[in-house]
Amino acid sequence: RKYNVAILGASGAVGKVMLKVLEERDFPINNLKLLASARSAGKEVEFKGEKYKIEEVKPESFDNIDIALFSAGGSTSKKWAPIAVEKGAIVVDNSSAWRMDENVPLVVPEVNPEDVKWHKGIIANPNCSTIQMVVALYPIHKEKNIKRIIVSTYQAVSGAGAKAIEDLRKETEAKLKGEDYKPEALPNHIAFNVIPHIDVFLDNLHTKEEMKMVNETRKIMHAPDIKVSPTCARVPVFNGHSESVVIETEKPITVEETREILRNAPGVIVEDDPFNNIYPMPINADGKDEVFVGRIKKDLAFDNGIAMWIVADNLRKGAATNAVQIAELLIKYNLV
Ligand code: A2P
Repeated sequence: RKYNVAILGASGAVGKVMLKVLEERDFPINNLKLLASARSAGKEVEFKGEKYKIEEVKPESFDNIDIALFSAGGSTSKKWAPIAVEKGAIVVDNSSAWRMDENVPLVVPEVNPEDVKWHKGIIANPNCSTIQMVVALYPIHKEKNIKRIIVSTYQAVSGAGAKAIEDLRKETEAKLKGEDYKPEALPNHIAFNVIPHIDVFLDNLHTKEEMKMVNETRKIMHAPDIKVSPTCARVPVFNGHSESVVIETEKPITVEETREILRNAPGVIVEDDPFNNIYPMPINADGKDEVFVGRIKKDLAFDNGIAMWIVADNLRKGAATNAVQIAELLIKYNLV
């Protein structure tokens, strides 16, 4: 069987990669509908050698759609997901709008694939930094019971959308010419800088991005008691998020055991030969679907502690690929 698929946000940074990933994986598509706002209506996009026109999203856009992949921001999703579901589509949503809703599964296929089975129309795709972290940590948690996670992120500008990618390019060019440029989609200067601020600040002085890593990790791993200490920063990298992660486990854990668990973990590639300059980096993860882990070392602050460095393409595994994998699960489990 083939399916009618819509992409809302088809002109955006993640939407474009969704198209690429659907094509690469030869997703069984009957009709493909590309949607965005009026701003992009009429723009042409290529899919499998054919040209498609982007349309402005309307309620009728979701008539006869089986699967709708959304990546158009939280408020757009809040408005359009219920309409798409009403029309009979299953929505896989990349925004943060529905992730913590108790009626909405939050799914990383390598971790909690079975959760798609209780969906009520919407399935949420987790935060990019959270996805790559849980893909690496869940297999360790199953064997060693993780009690605590301390994570610092080094997040690429692509995670903030197409405008932020332009911001980094334009500000870097301007600075090299000795000129000024003020980013439009980022809260501060990004060229030759690091911004410890992603999404909005909350009353507890954490950012919303940081709290996503706390709450979503617990929900995806079904581990309500895991303690997460997050700091999220934006770095002047175009694509690929990096994370320094320290875990404290209940059971004793060694570097060799961690390497062995990660070598057998689905979706993970261990890249860990530090004396030969081999470790995960965003420029190598760019364009790949796996999560790369290296710099695995015994942590010096906890008795049962391991530190590691986790890198993934945030537009792919952190967004588009994970969403398409969720759509593939819907087919696999006969839910669509
Ligand atoms: P548009 O290009 O028409 O603005 P990014 O994350 O790269 O900024 O992309 C956001 C995506 O979400 C774009 O495809 C954008 O379309 C789409 N989008 C943003 N706001 C709306 C809206 N109100 N209705 C429909 N699509 C929207």
